[in-house]
Amino acid sequence: MGMLYAEQLEYMALDSMQERHESEIKILNEIDKMAMLLDRGEGTLESLEAKVEEYILHVKEHFASEEKLMEEYDFPSYEMHKMAHDMFLVDLNYATKQWKHYGDINKMINFVRKTPEWLVMHVNSVDRTTADYLAQKIK
Ligand SMILES: [Fe+2]
Ligand SMILES: [Fe+2]
Repeated sequence: MGMLYAEQLEYMALDSMQERHESEIKILNEIDKMAMLLDRGEGTLESLEAKVEEYILHVKEHFASEEKLMEEYDFPSYEMHKMAHDMFLVDLNYATKQWKHYGDINKMINFVRKTPEWLVMHVNSVDRTTADYLAQKIK
């Protein structure tokens, strides 16, 4: 996937959303690097797996926190935004199950390496408009 940079994502009008996006980028880059090193026989599978677990948790908290804010402030396109999250979670859960079932972390790494494309698209459209709305309501 190559490095993902914070600058590829639109800057959110709401600090909490911006911070979550930046920490998610950091984890994605760490996973990419750790998987690359492991291919070369460096690092451990355990540390990579722990990082992937951290990513899964991070995504779930990321989505849940946005959904909570949208509900709290009656965001009009809540359903559409939540559905985008839910569809991503279906894919994430499927990849996680494949990983655990086959005991093959590469099934998960393949998925993780494809996610930046989704993330950039989602953040720059759906999240951006959501953050603009929320920032006006909250201030
Ligand atoms: Fe987001
Ligand atoms: Fe979102």
